[in-house]
Parts: sequence; C-alpha cells; structure tokens
Amino acid sequence: MIVVGSVNADLVVRVDRRPAPGETVIGSDLVTHPGGKGANQAVAAARLGARVALLGRIGSDGNGEFLRKALAGDGVGLDHLVETPGPSGVALITVGADGDNSIIVSPGVNARLSEEDIAAAAGLLASARVVSLQLESPLATVLAAARTAARVVFNLSPPAVVPDELLAVCDPLVVNEHEAAVLLGRRGAPGPQARALLALGPRSVVLTLGAGGAVVAGPDGVTEVPSPRVEAVDTTGAGDAFTGALAWRLAGGEDLAAATAFAVRVGAASVRRPGAQSSYPYPEDLEAL
Ligand code: RIB
Ligand code: NA
Repeated sequence: MIVVGSVNADLVVRVDRRPAPGETVIGSDLVTHPGGKGANQAVAAARLGARVALLGRIGSDGNGEFLRKALAGDGVGLDHLVETPGPSGVALITVGADGDNSIIVSPGVNARLSEEDIAAAAGLLASARVVSLQLESPLATVLAAARTAARVVFNLSPPAVVPDELLAVCDPLVVNEHEAAVLLGRRGAPGPQARALLALGPRSVVLTLGAGGAVVAGPDGVTEVPSPRVEAVDTTGAGDAFTGALAWRLAGGEDLAAATAFAVRVGAASVRRPGAQSSYPYPEDLEAL
C-alpha cells in the first residue's frame, strides 16, 4: 500500500484547560513527537507488518531529519519522501485532562507536495492495491493521486469541501462525527449520517465514533462495529492509526466490515499511550483487546 500525505513534527503540551484569547496558562514540559496524518497512517500500517511507502515532503530543517529517521526506523519506504528547502510541517498540540486534543497545523513544505510528485510516482501508485489519502496536502495533489490509484482510502481530515470526482472514487470515505457533520451540514445519529454520506457518492463509507467504534455503509447496507473499552490517555492520531490499519487490511483483500473491526482495535490501542506514532501498536499489543 501507499500513503500520500503529510509529515509533521508534533509539539505537544498537556494542559488542565486551554487558554481563552488574551489569557496565559501554564502547561507541562514540551514533548516533540513524529506526526502528520500521512506519516501516521504509514507508520500504523508498517508496525502491523505492511509493506508501505510514503509520498510526502519534509523540510530542510532539524525537524525534517528527525521525521525521516522516525519513519525509517519504522520501516516505511521513503524513496518518494522529498526533502525540500523550507520548514517541515509542524503541529501545535494541546492535550487536555481527558486525553482530548486541539491541533493547529502549520503545513510548511507539506503545502508543496505537487501533482508533479504524483506523476513522478505514477507507476508505483498504479501498482499498489490501495492508496491512502488525507487532506493535509494540497487538494489538487490528492485528486491527482486518487486518479492514479486502483483503490482509494480517503480520510477527509481536516474537513473541507472536495469535488464529487474525488468522493466518487473513495472506497471507503473515512470520517469522524465532526467531519461528517461538516460534510453534511448537520449532526445526526450515526446510522443515518453514514447513509447520508454514502448518498454523496463514495463507493463505501466508514464513520468512526471514537469509543463508540464505527459504522460501515456500502452496497450491502449498514453495519455497526463496536470498540473495545480502553482508558484514553491521548487520542491524538487515533483516526490515522485506524485508517492506516484499515487500508492495509483492505489491501490484503479483507472485506470492509472485517477490516473495520480490526482497525477499531488498532485505534483503541493507540489512545492508551501518549502521542500519535509513539502510541501505535505492534501485533502483540492487540492481543489484550
Ligand atoms: O491526526 C493527528 C495528526 O494531526 C498529528 O500527528 C498532527 O501532526 C496533525 O497532523
Ligand atoms: Na495516542
């Protein structure tokens, strides 16, 4: 499988509560973790045993070096990770007392991932069973990748309006409840929301529900997939862990409901530890779930 997407240094501070405008609060010591939605998906899959390559860009700064080393250490294929003059992507993250997170992303050179980068990897992209995409890269680049792919897994995160052409090739479109509400312009119960998302045109939909598991919608109807109960320490990147695991199982030929049931366990395992990639499970970590 191939992931096309972002690579960020995550600068994380834990806080009891977040500051209001004009206010200062004191947080924990700063921790820097490797992150970025694309890199996170790739690492999640690699740890589970996937052969996965990442198409992306890192900057010519210290963060770029740190991020490349982390990806290499996890065995992610980096032939198409291009070092680019300029700052690496950075995510400013606060983690609250409940393990919830708020994130500001500064894209840096992720914004330069281009249609030319996709063209340069066209052969590789076309040969992969699954290409996994998110939206921390320019929309034109994501669209170009989707056009080249045999099967597209697309996590529409962060949420934005995307062309029907992109939605139409998603198999599945993966969104959480917040992203679903943005896309549909309304909140609602998971089953009806998943059906409404399917009506937007994708071949299939996975609506993730955090501790509530996920709902799958496709030509065969709607299936609810429960999640094991876990104590949430840090939910950052849980959706990326889920999507990376899902894409890998689909690439192996599993059906969507079964792949989702597996991916829900991977996402649940990730929230038990701090950080995104730093919390992603190996197969043995899943046995207890
Ligand atoms: O989804 C979590 C990720 O979002 C973080 O790793 C951060 O880099 C932001 O991209
Ligand atoms: Na985590």
